[in-house]
Amino acid sequence: MISSAIISGSGAFTPPNTVTNVELCKRVDTSDEWIVSRTGIKSRQLIAKEGEMTTVDMAEKAAQAALDMAKIKAIELDMIIVATVTPDYRLPSAACLLQNKLAARNACAFDLIAACAGSLYGLSIASQFISSGKYKKILVIGAETMSTILNWSDRNTCVLFGDAASAAILEPSPDPEKGFIDFQLYSDGTHWQDIWIPEGGSKNPVSADTFEKKGDRVLMNGRETFKFAVRALTSAALKILESHRVSIEQVHHIVAHQANLRIIEAVAERLGISLDRFIINIDRFANTSSASLLLTFDEGKRLKRFKDNDLILMLAIGSGFAWGASLYRM
Ligand code: ACO
Repeated sequence: MISSAIISGSGAFTPPNTVTNVELCKRVDTSDEWIVSRTGIKSRQLIAKEGEMTTVDMAEKAAQAALDMAKIKAIELDMIIVATVTPDYRLPSAACLLQNKLAARNACAFDLIAACAGSLYGLSIASQFISSGKYKKILVIGAETMSTILNWSDRNTCVLFGDAASAAILEPSPDPEKGFIDFQLYSDGTHWQDIWIPEGGSKNPVSADTFEKKGDRVLMNGRETFKFAVRALTSAALKILESHRVSIEQVHHIVAHQANLRIIEAVAERLGISLDRFIINIDRFANTSSASLLLTFDEGKRLKRFKDNDLILMLAIGSGFAWGASLYRM
């Protein structure tokens, strides 16, 4: 490792259209009380209608905010990674569309899929390229128009998600003590059917009845996901802390994927810490999948929650299941 990677800029964008739980009651048989008590979600930001704003449109705005904070120009970027399960097209990648919009002509660009763990996986790849000395400036994006893959008549899923994009610029740290310390990533594909979209891929291509059956929309086994997420996130946190001989008391902030407030509360309880060490925004944005982790990081950064030298534990889990943890020194 030549040097560690720091996040020199971050940014986020959410569409202006706020949809409250009460408004969702007009679409499905649910209630504000049920959603708040089971998930902590009060409202979410959604594109007003499909096609009105795309994943790449939102990614561009988040990227520009991150470039501005890092005080660099898009032309200086060496690599663009977009984590998404809702790219604008099946082909080409959202990352190449974003490269074009930003006129980031010197960057190679590709997408990755790790669902709600997408940003964490993207950061881990970017960090390796920076640490090896191969690249100097990498843009990592998590961006989703989840509203375009939800079944709006399925109350089990449609109340849980929001649309958003978030971004980070990674550069070599001038101080080797600062930046990413480690990533530990895991996957367990035996759970592939706990959160999935049955149709529209090469296994079950879109057919005449796909839209009737809503086969191109998210299905979820909520209870299994909940139990697995609590176990996996707690275990990933404890393992990375142990590897670096760091106690949970030494961690100043936890930036975790915002899937469900009860998942975060259960992880906090198992780690023996209070909720105030977590940055929480699920109440306003719901689960924004790949965008969630960096949306939360950016909020902590802009609210000046992070001080110089603070130790941050990042945690994320998504469909697959794919999950992991990271330690980051401000
Ligand atoms: N409004 C009202 N009732 C509902 C709703 C709703 N929106 N959704 C489901 N229900 C009903 C169901 O029909 C079911 O009714 P039944 O018992 O009569 O069949 C009942 O509520 C389900 O109750 P529980 O299973 O006890 O609900 P639970 O407390 O498990 O909460 C939830 C469900 C919120 C989905 C929870 O399991 C969860 O959060 N799981 C994790 C899911 C998640 O985080 N997914 C994010 C994507 S993946 C990721 O980010 C890791």
